[in-house]
Amino acid sequence: MPKPGSSPESRDNSPDEGRISRRVLLGTGWCGFLLSIVGPALANIRFLFPNVVYEGPTLLKVGRPEDYASGTITFLDEQRLFIMRDAEGLRALSAICTHLRCTTGPFVPPTAEWREAHSRCPCHGSVFAKDGRVLQGPAPRPLDFYRVSLAPDGRLVVDTAAVVDKGDVLKV
Ligand code: FES
Repeated sequence: MPKPGSSPESRDNSPDEGRISRRVLLGTGWCGFLLSIVGPALANIRFLFPNVVYEGPTLLKVGRPEDYASGTITFLDEQRLFIMRDAEGLRALSAICTHLRCTTGPFVPPTAEWREAHSRCPCHGSVFAKDGRVLQGPAPRPLDFYRVSLAPDGRLVVDTAAVVDKGDVLKV
């Protein structure tokens, strides 16, 4: 029964309309509380699992010694390597720039700017000499030389986990 003095429109509305019920308020509060606990807990669990980068194998088969003529520098783009052969033997030079690990470009002949054969990194312009020296930064250190050995099947194996001195040559 309508209250005396109330307007005709308000007579149809229930008294709770527009108010949040206690049940909804408690439910929302609990959800917020659980999220504030579960969120950080999940973040902490994530720290138990380190960011591991699974890199490829470190032993690379790069063909046979006769594939590399004396006096050549062969750029193996996929393996990110240079195979160098001279009168002393074979060497493997990394083509991974020591700045931010871009692949450096192939060696080009001397120019007016650089009076020796050089390889330029396309990312930020570092320039390297054949012996790995940095001719121009921002690369902070020379390119690495890797150990080269001969597998029993007669193929060359480069171990990219074994950094050697630039004088370390495979005599073949
Ligand atoms: S990654 Fe080669 S110069 Fe920056």
